[in-house]
Amino acid sequence: MTLKKSSFLGILLAIFCLNSCSDFNSESTDNQSSSDDYTHEIDSIISLMTLKEKIGQLVQYNGSWDLTGPPSDMGSQQKLEKIKKGEVGSMLNVLSVKATREAQKVAVEHSRLGIPLIFGYDVIHGYKTMFPIPLGEAASWDLKLMEESARISAVETAASGVHWTFAPMLDVSRDARWGRIMEGAGEDPYLTSQVGVAKIKGYQGNDLSNEFTIAACAKHFAGYGFGEAGRDYNTVNIGIRELQNSILPPFKAAADAEVATFMNAFNDIDGIPATGSKMLQREILKGNWNWDGFVVSDWGSISEMQEHGFAKDLNHAAEIAIHAGSDMDMESYAYEDHLESLIKNDKVDVAYIEDAVRRVLRIKFRLGLFDDPYKYCNEEREKENIYTDAHLESSRNIAKRSIVLLKNSNHLLPLKKEINGLAVIGPLGDDKDSPIGNWRAQGESNSAVSFLEGVENALNAKVPFQKGVELSIGKRNFLEASTFNTTDASGIPAAVDLAKKSKVVLLVVGEDAFQSGEGRSQASISLAGLQHQLIEEIYKVNKNIVLVLMNGRPLDLSLYVDRIPVILETWHLGSEAGNAIADVIFGDYNPSGKLPVSFPHAVGQEPFYYNQKNTGRPSNDSHVTYSHHNDVPKQALFPFGYGLSYTTFEYDNLKLSHDVFDSSSSISVSVDIKNTGDRAGEEVIQLYIRDMVGSITRPIKELKGFEKINIASGETQTVSFTIDEEMIEFYTVNNKWEAESGEFKVFVGSNSEDLLESTFTFKN
Ligand code: BGC
Repeated sequence: MTLKKSSFLGILLAIFCLNSCSDFNSESTDNQSSSDDYTHEIDSIISLMTLKEKIGQLVQYNGSWDLTGPPSDMGSQQKLEKIKKGEVGSMLNVLSVKATREAQKVAVEHSRLGIPLIFGYDVIHGYKTMFPIPLGEAASWDLKLMEESARISAVETAASGVHWTFAPMLDVSRDARWGRIMEGAGEDPYLTSQVGVAKIKGYQGNDLSNEFTIAACAKHFAGYGFGEAGRDYNTVNIGIRELQNSILPPFKAAADAEVATFMNAFNDIDGIPATGSKMLQREILKGNWNWDGFVVSDWGSISEMQEHGFAKDLNHAAEIAIHAGSDMDMESYAYEDHLESLIKNDKVDVAYIEDAVRRVLRIKFRLGLFDDPYKYCNEEREKENIYTDAHLESSRNIAKRSIVLLKNSNHLLPLKKEINGLAVIGPLGDDKDSPIGNWRAQGESNSAVSFLEGVENALNAKVPFQKGVELSIGKRNFLEASTFNTTDASGIPAAVDLAKKSKVVLLVVGEDAFQSGEGRSQASISLAGLQHQLIEEIYKVNKNIVLVLMNGRPLDLSLYVDRIPVILETWHLGSEAGNAIADVIFGDYNPSGKLPVSFPHAVGQEPFYYNQKNTGRPSNDSHVTYSHHNDVPKQALFPFGYGLSYTTFEYDNLKLSHDVFDSSSSISVSVDIKNTGDRAGEEVIQLYIRDMVGSITRPIKELKGFEKINIASGETQTVSFTIDEEMIEFYTVNNKWEAESGEFKVFVGSNSEDLLESTFTFKN
């Protein structure tokens, strides 16, 4: 181990580490899991550190290269001075080889101990090559491809000098009003867990020290997606069982997958801010789950405990947060300003600081930063590895697989390329920016292939286009809300004229890039601005409409679903959006996406999700007094797991190997799926289970497995799943995860409502 170009003391430190490494190596032979604990090295470093330097490792500053939260008053020069003193452990939003090298140089060559910085950044769905927004990508149900897009994002991120992404977001989100629903894998804990593990694998690979991998971060721990009324940062009022059964499973899966870091959350749960929650961070995460990475706070979330009315001042907030297990302070300035005095006044034991430092240093060791702090600083790689043709090709491939065909009357799609009389209409038709989506990292504004361009590329011809209406007016960016056009309808007549002359209208509507994302909660999920008016006017003159939706959340489509013949959900698909949508529209790709989130009939049904409880008054259409909304159907408009193909699939022959099992056995469930159409297609076969009676009330069904397969026309394939004890465990009335004896239903099918059904018994 060498500390390249490090300060004199840093070199001494390295020699110190080298000595202790030899003991460590001999010890680690019979216990492989301790091989990357770096206990001896870390002890050596800690023994050399002053209190200020220890606290420094827990401080993270924002750089000025990108802004993903409210700015602080501290200037760059002041920050560099702090780094020089060894009082900063990490920076976020410092990008490029040049910038990271400069800051790293100060840390490594000019601070007393030369401890390298770790640079973090929100690489949520791509660094510069943009992939579909996470909600869209989850609709592919293709874990291999999700891993691939994370790997490519890691390669690009690492090439720009950055070590760490604040992703994946593992917040189960059941509320379409919440703007950040775009950033996760939707409403289901199992799907979110699977996607999370795939993303972590993609970012971290098998070896964090590899120069093409980066550290991942499971966020936001926990409950952030359950804010009341879908309002961002809002109160979460749930009990421990809902927390354990619905929110924590993806985080547990991430901890098991050895995600390097966690981020805590802005919200409170049952009165305790997540950032100050000892139960979440110390007891569950670091205690029960025995996870050894570090927790970074969310932006300013330590300080915000004052606004929560939980800490009386920043000093108090620092005390609460460090005790709770929040290891690194992102932009609250609480730790640097207050931990020292808290220790001197015996309010905080230094052991808390050292535990946090240990965790931060461990991840720096695992990343190989002590071997080579400049390992990601390579201009050649930066030039060659970012936004490459191969990465764009992968983006297109993933994008087309993320599209969900919601309706296709009379097989209007796919369109023949020879078709005459095609028109593109709508405010998002030529938009090169919205498909890039929010949380776009270095994705350039207006850099996506627009829908119009995609269609023209596919046809190799010009296609007439009319915008009809503008969607948003004025600025569109991360920190400012979009303003919608509600008055200027002057473009509608020209769009109507075009529609009159056309055979088929491709009508592109939805949300702009910054309509969903952080701080973008909405009370309405209907189409904003004058889009509805545009659709109505076009419909009057031409009913052959393919409604192409671009959006970051489920929308209220109730006004269109009966009348518009084709509805295609394309989310915000990233750099290659237009080409990917054209692949589906013209049948070069047979759509295979399935919704990772339910679409309601009306916003008033939110939070709306398939895995609800039965209640004491489940659906009974002959009475009024049951649990429903009187004015809309109880079922989803489009259910979780739903999506059409250009072919059709028939499910048959659901078989169970046994109908009873116990802790030492399992049941194999199989089903035959026949492609009954005339072209090959991919289908996502979904397995759900219902626990009929529990020590606490149980959901009406829960996704427990899925498989995506390709089936040739006319072919039948058999898919099997194994049901074992672990699959039916939940957090019971005994406050622990266990399986309970009793009757279960098992369902297999193509979405959460269209299912074959059988039963089995578990005997403990
Ligand atoms: C978000 C986090 C993000 C952080 C840093 C916060 O506002 O909640 O998800 O990682 O900013 O940009």
